Amino acid sequence: MIPENAGPAAVIVLAAGAGTRMKSRTPKILHEIGGLSMVGHALRAARSINPQRLAIVVRHERDLVEGHVAALDPQALIVDQDDVPGTGRAVEAALEALDAGQALDGTVVVTYGDVPLLSGELLTELVATHEFEGNAVTVLTAVLDDATGYGRILRGVDGSVTGIREHKDSSEAEKLIREVNSGIYAFDAAVLRDALGKVTTDNAQGEKYLTDVLGLAREAGGRVAAVVTDDRWQVEGANDRVQLAALGAELNRRTVEAWMRAGVTVVDPATTWIDSSVTLDEDVRLLPNTQLHGSTTVARDAVVGPDTTLTDVTVGEGATVARTHGSGSVIGPRAAVGPFTYLRPGTVLGEKGKIGAFYETKNVTIGRGSKLSHLGYAGDAEIGEDTNIGCGNITANYDGEKKHRTVIGSGVRTGSNTVFVAPVTVGDGAYSGAGAVIRKDVPAGALALSVAAQRNAEGWVPAHRPGTRSAELAQAATNDSSSTPASTEEGK
Ligand code: UD1
Ligand code: MG
Repeated sequence: MIPENAGPAAVIVLAAGAGTRMKSRTPKILHEIGGLSMVGHALRAARSINPQRLAIVVRHERDLVEGHVAALDPQALIVDQDDVPGTGRAVEAALEALDAGQALDGTVVVTYGDVPLLSGELLTELVATHEFEGNAVTVLTAVLDDATGYGRILRGVDGSVTGIREHKDSSEAEKLIREVNSGIYAFDAAVLRDALGKVTTDNAQGEKYLTDVLGLAREAGGRVAAVVTDDRWQVEGANDRVQLAALGAELNRRTVEAWMRAGVTVVDPATTWIDSSVTLDEDVRLLPNTQLHGSTTVARDAVVGPDTTLTDVTVGEGATVARTHGSGSVIGPRAAVGPFTYLRPGTVLGEKGKIGAFYETKNVTIGRGSKLSHLGYAGDAEIGEDTNIGCGNITANYDGEKKHRTVIGSGVRTGSNTVFVAPVTVGDGAYSGAGAVIRKDVPAGALALSVAAQRNAEGWVPAHRPGTRSAELAQAATNDSSSTPASTEEGK
């Protein structure tokens, strides 16, 4: 029994091509836009129509592609294409592999691994039209101003689709046709199987063209039709890095627009980049030049930016994150981060906590209401609640070989420039003096002082730096103070 919402019998994603114009060691379809490889986008669209089987045809850099695909979509069947070139041969290989147990029956959809903006909605429309009209083949087409390079859609006098002519095989008159083949189709499995058996390599490129199936299906008495889309981006492939950037920008434009429609304020859409995997709540505000990547989520009323890049970061409700570079971190509700803050993986900032200017954090848990306001480093540490870490504090967590932990309790107040030489523990309610170097545990409630008492060598500057501006000013100040009895505290 096939469930009622079952999609087509199969989707075949073609991804065997070399992609030489990328000029890259990375296979073309592994290049990313919107935080996901092109083939990742293709697989996602394919999966979204709920096919019973999904096959992907590989050849160029097949091991790299296979590993990548297996990680993204473990259920996908990886099919190798042999030496015979062409899209027809690629589909034939996939069909043979899919038929192996039991011959496929019903609709088979073909898509490309390098067409990343194709949506599940458009594929659904293609399949629905194909099945509703009882077609043998339904091809997705678009009308372009410049059709150079594409296969042209041939139509009879009655307007029906009669075939596809590849650019290199077309006559001058056919080159004027602006309706092009997207390379995305819905086929009846049996028609496809029969026609592919008859496709030859007798053409300008010596390839087995999948496009020949349309003419053959029609000759066999099948109905061939087209779904014309007016959204050219959805059928556009990336062959080089210029097209990759253009598709990436368009994908981002769509993503940002969708979030604005969902209730997110984006002050400057042109400089805001949001991966397709990011989630945002209503009433989030994104300030200019913000990039949100990976599994980042931002909760209601939080303000992120300007100039902030977050990767796999969870931002709590009402938090503010300004001029921050962060990854693998959690920012609690109503917490404040930045400006100029570097959050490295494992940073967990509690509710109403603060990590301020010029702070770097890594693998540190900071309790509710605790503040690390300025200039420092906190790594491999645990800090309790309502603790105030003074300016310039650092955890010395690395002994040159191993990392060690610093544990600081709640209600602690540390003086400026305190250094915690880990492993070390500071109890609840303890204080440290400015410049303290904490090498031993500090009990709860103690004041830790580690700096020798200050000694002033009076008159040292005029004596040792005579004639300098400092000496001059010191002299003047000494003369002044000697005439003013109230200043006798000085130098004590
Ligand atoms: C193909 C179509 C053309 C259409 C165009 C749309 C054919 C014969 N032509 O042309 O009508 O307008 O796409 O972009 O189908 N591939 C394989 N194995 C191969 C060859 C290609 O898997 O042997 C894959 C490629 O990785 C790519 C897709 O098929 O994803 C299209 O291949 P490409 O070489 O770009 O086809 P075009 O010549 O552009
Ligand atoms: Mg192409």
